[in-house]
Parts: sequence; structure tokens; C-alpha cells
Amino acid sequence: MADKFYITTPIYYPSGKFHLGHCYTTVLADAIARYKRARGFDVIFLTGTDEHGQKIEAKAKEQGVEPQRYVDTMAADIKQLWEFLNISNNRFVRTTDDYHVETVKHVFSALFENGDIYKGTYSGKYCQQCEAIFTEQQLNNGKCPDCGRDVEDFCEESYFFKLSKYQKPLQEFYKTHPDFMAPEARANEMLKNFIDVGLSDICVSRKSVKWGITADFDPEHTIYVWIDALLNYISILGYKNQKYNDFEEFWPCDLHLVGKEIMRFHAIIWPAILMALDLPLPKKILGHGWLLMNGDKMSKSKGNVVEPRDICATYGIDSDAIRYFLLREIAVGSDCKFSDELLINRINADLANDLGNLVFRTVAMIDKYFLGSLPQQKQADNEVDLPLKNLCLSKKSKIEHYMDEFDTQKALKEIFEIVDAANKYIDTTTPWALAKIEKNKPRLASVLYNLAEAIRIVTVFIAPFMPTTAQKIAQQLNLTKEFTVWESAGEWSVLPADLSVLKGTILFPRIEES
Ligand code: ME8
Ligand code: MG
Repeated sequence: MADKFYITTPIYYPSGKFHLGHCYTTVLADAIARYKRARGFDVIFLTGTDEHGQKIEAKAKEQGVEPQRYVDTMAADIKQLWEFLNISNNRFVRTTDDYHVETVKHVFSALFENGDIYKGTYSGKYCQQCEAIFTEQQLNNGKCPDCGRDVEDFCEESYFFKLSKYQKPLQEFYKTHPDFMAPEARANEMLKNFIDVGLSDICVSRKSVKWGITADFDPEHTIYVWIDALLNYISILGYKNQKYNDFEEFWPCDLHLVGKEIMRFHAIIWPAILMALDLPLPKKILGHGWLLMNGDKMSKSKGNVVEPRDICATYGIDSDAIRYFLLREIAVGSDCKFSDELLINRINADLANDLGNLVFRTVAMIDKYFLGSLPQQKQADNEVDLPLKNLCLSKKSKIEHYMDEFDTQKALKEIFEIVDAANKYIDTTTPWALAKIEKNKPRLASVLYNLAEAIRIVTVFIAPFMPTTAQKIAQQLNLTKEFTVWESAGEWSVLPADLSVLKGTILFPRIEES
């Protein structure tokens, strides 16, 4: 039976326009999910929408519609965006879905019954944007420590979760599971700023918020959105509901991918809830950095956003180009600037010039010099060919190593070294010169075969990152399934010697700046 791999993105607040920053988490998760599938894993890849809470309630009101109507429209829109970006999630959770509500109600009652949730009065400082309550000491110059916005006084009868009880067990867990949080700097930051200073119990219900899941034992209270939201990771597997039945097989989760500002919820509160439920903890939480626009976090509430469908329309590019930009430009864990110029340069240099040209030239030459079908040729293993072949064969283990660390940037650099080497191979072997002399035709055929092999290997490797492009190349080079299985990227001379090609259109037209 295949090994299981369970990967999640955060579920998105449908509180405004979705943008390239959101897309990063999901595109990254998608590349990892596709890679794992290529390696033979049975993958559950989850994304969804986080539909309850005050912020959503306020948005719906602003638009003059019922909250449910509002979130229905937004959820449909984000599904379309994920389709546009070729996201291969096989689960989509909405926190207003019945089975999810059932799980949340069950868990909340169970925690109340075992004494992990108790009634009290809460006063503190509330940040509406982050749906989080802070103590005076946690504020940063009187503002929200997460987003820097104004906070408001808050005092209400509330239920509390005994987070403080889990301080020691959590510290013990981090110590014995040094790989739980990544990258390391983010883990240290978490320990220093939040855990080592001491965990306080957290408020987990609100009386004044109506748009939420009510507590069965006290229906005047709605359950805090973060408790509601975090439970999506197990409700979608069928924990305490009848909709799905994958909990035994897929829990604990292999990877929760999150942005750095919500690492805290995933690395502290979530494990504490799981401990309270006596469930195993996730294997890894990876906190990635932000996409920045003019030095600031790209954010729907700041309005400094770009929407991927808009960018594609503006520049006449497809979603693979956007995926490539995000996966190649951003070092996992670090912030990264966005500008149109960076996007255009990256696409023109790597995709139009390097990859696109390589494929176009190779296919065009096979088409022109051999009418689309290579003759049977000798395997060429001379001093010009060997380095290309050896380089290609050296990449599989490196790419696997980086992808197993979820480092798409380094993996893509390795892949594009093949593209580079193959383009240089064309310059060195000068096929157009070989074509002029009849007796050089066999050598020409060998050269073009080697190029086709290099491209085949690149095609296998890029498929998790640029699935549509990989398909287009596969069509042009007639790469049926057996030539593109992952394992075959570690072998040479896989293609039949008398390979035929089908000339196609240019993969990535150059973007001309106006
Ligand atoms: O946080 N750069 O939802 P959300 C990179 N509902 N990533 C960014 C980004 C940027 N400029 N802007 C947003 C939530 N993101 C909760 C999650 S999970 C149980 C609940 C990322 O819509 C952000 O870091 O505010 C987060 O990972 C994701 O988009 C969703 O953000
Ligand atoms: Mg956010």
C-alpha cells in the first residue's frame, strides 16, 4: 500500500480580494503535493475557507447581504482562483459545512466536559483584524503585536481554554521534536516571544459575535474562530463526523504550511488542543515569509494587492508563469519583494529565453532536419555528450533532497542548470552546421536525441511546479506516460531512438514592457 501524505494550507478568510500573497501558500503546497504524488505517495491536499467570525459578519453587513450568502459567493470565487492556478487539492473545507460544524461542536463539548474549557470573565485588548485578544503587556506600543492596528477594550463573560496547563508538555514536545517547526529561526522566535514568557489561558467563546458555531452546552456563546478554524484539519478527515473516514490513515498531518504571522496559532494553540483531545500532534509546521509590495506585506486589508488573474491578463501569460515566479523567487521562510519588473525579468530570462527557446529550437530542428522523426542513431558518448548526460543524471537525488525539505527555489535552480547546459550544448555542437553536410547527419541525429532526452528529464522535474507547461512539452516531444514517470528522470536513453515530434507553439512569449 502506498505511503500516505497529508498536507494542508491555511483556510482563507474570505474578507476581501484574494491576492498573490495568498496564492503563494497554496501554490507552494500544490508543488509539494504534486511532487509527493509523483514519488508514489497517496496524498490528501487540503485547502478551504474560514467563514465565521466578526470580520466576515462585518463584511457581509457592509455589502448588505446575509453572511451565508456572502461566504457562498466568496468561496465560489476562491475555488475558481485555485482552478485557474491549477491547484490540485482533493479536499476543500468550508467552516460553514455541516460536518465541520458537527466536529467543532463535539470537540468544544468534550473539552468542556474534561475540564479544559471553563467559564470566566475576559477583559483584554481585542484586534478585530486578527480576531485575537491580547493582554496589555503583549501589545506593541499599544497596538496589535501582529498587524500593528488599533485594538479595542474587551470585557465579556467567556469560556476559556486552559492553555497554561500545556506549557510544560509543549516545551517537552518541542525539545523532543526539534523538527516540528521550520525554519529554525521561526521556531526560536516562537519559543522566545510566546512560550518561554509563559502561556496564559485563552478566551475561546464570544457572546457578542453571532456569526459563529454555538456551544451546545451554552448556546448564547459562539466558539472563537481560531478554535473553529484549526479543527478543519481533522473535520475534513472525518474526526467525529460521518462525512469522511480517513482520520485513522492520514492523521497526524505531515505538513501544515502557514504564513509566519499565524505560526503561533499552529505551533502552540493547535498542539495544545490536540493534547487535550489526546490525539497525536502534526509532524511539521512550516512557516513561510511574506510577499512584500513596496516594503510592506501584501494584504487585502492594506489594499496593496495584485491579483494573479489580472497579472496574467495584463501580460498575456499563463498561470504556470506565476507559479514559477513564486516558487523560484521566494526562499522558503524568507520575505520576498514583488514588483512587475521582477516578475517580467524572471519570466523573460528563465522561461522565455532559456526553457522556451530550448524546447522550441530542439523540436524545430528535429522537424526541419528530419521531417519530425529522428532516424535510428548511434548512442553518442563522446566528450561533448557525456557532461550533459552526467549532469542530467546527477540531478534527481539533489532535487529530491531539496523537495523533501520543501525548498522549491533550490530544486528549481538545479532543474534550470539542465536547461542551461542543454542550451550551451546546442551552441557547442552547432546542429545547423552539421545539417549542411550529408555525412554528418548521423551525428546530428545523436545531438538532437541527447537534447530530447535532456528536455524529457526537465519535463519530469518541472511537472510539480508547472503542470501545464510539462504537458505542452510532453505533447511536442510525444512523451507518453512511461517516459515521464519520476523514476525515469534518473535514467538516460529512455526515449526510443526513432522518436518523432510535433511542432507546437512557443511556450512562453517574451513579455515586452510598455
Ligand atoms: O490567516 N505573503 O487567513 P488569511 C505571503 N483564516 N503569504 C500571505 C500574504 C503575503 N503577502 N498575505 C496572506 C488566515 N498570506 C486564517 C487561517 S488556518 C486554521 C486559519 C497567507 O486569509 C497567510 O500567511 O488571512 C496565510 O498563511 C494565508 O495567506 C491565509 O491568510
Ligand atoms: Mg491574515
